[in-house]
Amino acid sequence: MSEALSPSAARLRASGFAPRIAVLLGSGWGGLVDRLAGSIAIDYAELPAFPAPGVGGHAARVHLGRLGGREVALLAGRRHAYEDGRADGMKAALRCLAAAGVEVLVQTNAAGSLDPALRPGELMLIEDHLNVAQRSPLVGESGDARFVDLCAAYDPLLREQALAAAAARGIALAGGVYAWVLGPQFETPAEIRWLRGIGARAVGMSTVPETIIARHAGLRVLAFSLITNMAAGMEAQALSHAHTLAAAERAGARAADLLEAVVARLEWT
Ligand code: HPA
Repeated sequence: MSEALSPSAARLRASGFAPRIAVLLGSGWGGLVDRLAGSIAIDYAELPAFPAPGVGGHAARVHLGRLGGREVALLAGRRHAYEDGRADGMKAALRCLAAAGVEVLVQTNAAGSLDPALRPGELMLIEDHLNVAQRSPLVGESGDARFVDLCAAYDPLLREQALAAAAARGIALAGGVYAWVLGPQFETPAEIRWLRGIGARAVGMSTVPETIIARHAGLRVLAFSLITNMAAGMEAQALSHAHTLAAAERAGARAADLLEAVVARLEWT
């Protein structure tokens, strides 16, 4: 594949690390970076396939190092579809990772809960998704490969291993369907009632485009939500980005514990 020779993939390879797992860090999950041993960081600005930092000046860096006994690439910073209406903002970056030898994409995000029993601070393993935004990062692709099968988008084998890792570490891990909305506005209570009716347990503004890109690129995908709030209309409190970030911050250590345990346990061929 020509991408194997792209400047970004070559730069990652030249780091001396050869990770088979990449972790895309969402809000609240950034503490994982501090757990990396012997790490180096490469700014997205040095990697043409990676997106320029979005509004808000979030970190935009790939951290390479060892976690749970193996080499990993942690991606701090992602492009959201709500920034420019496009679902393909992470396409080149994820393809670059695949070209550089990554085989598993572990995704993380902050999400609202639609289940009264799933509370802020809790963690959810994504079992399946609802592409509510009905946008695709694969629009404009050609060839049969674009008709990607998403029946097992969130890898069943890796999900089993994630549940086992969480249990062994004593971390409660719920499971459920994640609904992707475009944002950036939060949902209305009516939208949340509708999403509950069609099977969503959590709602957020990311992850699904990257899952589609990754499956198209042949990567296995595993994904986790950190519940930061009850979704619109479920409780009296108004929703805000600041509230989301504060809740994510409080649960950050447990989220990092979970990922460390999961990364150590994953096995696939
Ligand atoms: N809705 C959408 N995205 C979110 C939410 C929510 O309630 N919480 C965190 N990200």
